[in-house]
Amino acid sequence: MPYELILLEVEPPVGVITLNRPAVLNALSPAVIAEVTAALGELERDDSVRAVVLTGGPKVFAAGADIGDMAERGPVEQLARDQTGRWAGITAFTKPLIAAVNGYALGGGCEMALMCDLVIAGDSARFGQPEINLGIIAGAGGTQRWPRTAGKYVAMEVNLGGQPVAAQRAYQLGVVNKVVPAEMTIEAAKRVARQLATKPPVALRLAKEAVNLALELPLQQGLLAERKNFYFLFATEDQKEGMHAFLEKRRAQFQGR
Ligand code: CAA
Repeated sequence: MPYELILLEVEPPVGVITLNRPAVLNALSPAVIAEVTAALGELERDDSVRAVVLTGGPKVFAAGADIGDMAERGPVEQLARDQTGRWAGITAFTKPLIAAVNGYALGGGCEMALMCDLVIAGDSARFGQPEINLGIIAGAGGTQRWPRTAGKYVAMEVNLGGQPVAAQRAYQLGVVNKVVPAEMTIEAAKRVARQLATKPPVALRLAKEAVNLALELPLQQGLLAERKNFYFLFATEDQKEGMHAFLEKRRAQFQGR
């Protein structure tokens, strides 16, 4: 499908989605989110793709939801459009999703990065929830994912104060996996994606699902879900391949079956 607001490249085994509205710092209008979720749908169905990088390109990740699009709306209209509910297509993606963040990741841009499974940040990256300065609060997970990732006090600082957190501090807080020079960010994220692409796809999917459940379920329910996923994987050809390859001292070739 043709896209106007994003770029989609498939370099098997990696897919790359690049937000492409540089004139407004990749502001996330509903149309952008629709294109991102449509592209993720395509990549979900494409068996040649085993991991995906989501980036805003070399200068900026995204400066948040499109303020021009929201400024005059009322609550009933917002509810009817379910602006941020539509972002669920991002968290529904089952393959590893790696954010490659340079420059501003603000508001919805920060929330989009926090929805990804790993975050590779350029040293220019700035993560924040400045919605408070607009008279609103984060609406796509910022008040919920920050405390789950960095704890209550950092979450309060970010959501109440509205000041962005620089890349190195975000790394110290555990919000990003790695900080690299800004010109290396996208390549570093692709390298991580290519490494993950060598892993067994069904196990990757169930590992991702189980880790995400840990953020939502009480421990005993989470452990039960993990155990079921663990037992289920013994039904896959990749489990036989992985264990036989280990015993035969060779590299496993995983087929995703
Ligand atoms: N929506 C719409 N347009 C935006 C935008 C946004 N979120 N962010 C930047 N732009 C536009 C600017 O209006 C400007 O357009 P013009 O050239 O036509 O004037 C262009 O992008 C460049 O921006 P600046 O001139 O402001 O660039 P700067 O380098 O001086 O500042 C910035 C950069 C600090 C990121 C600043 O643009 C800024 O503060 N942006 C808004 C950030 C924000 O408040 N984000 C939260 C949005 S609400 C949200 O995301 C809700 C949610 O949870 C889903």
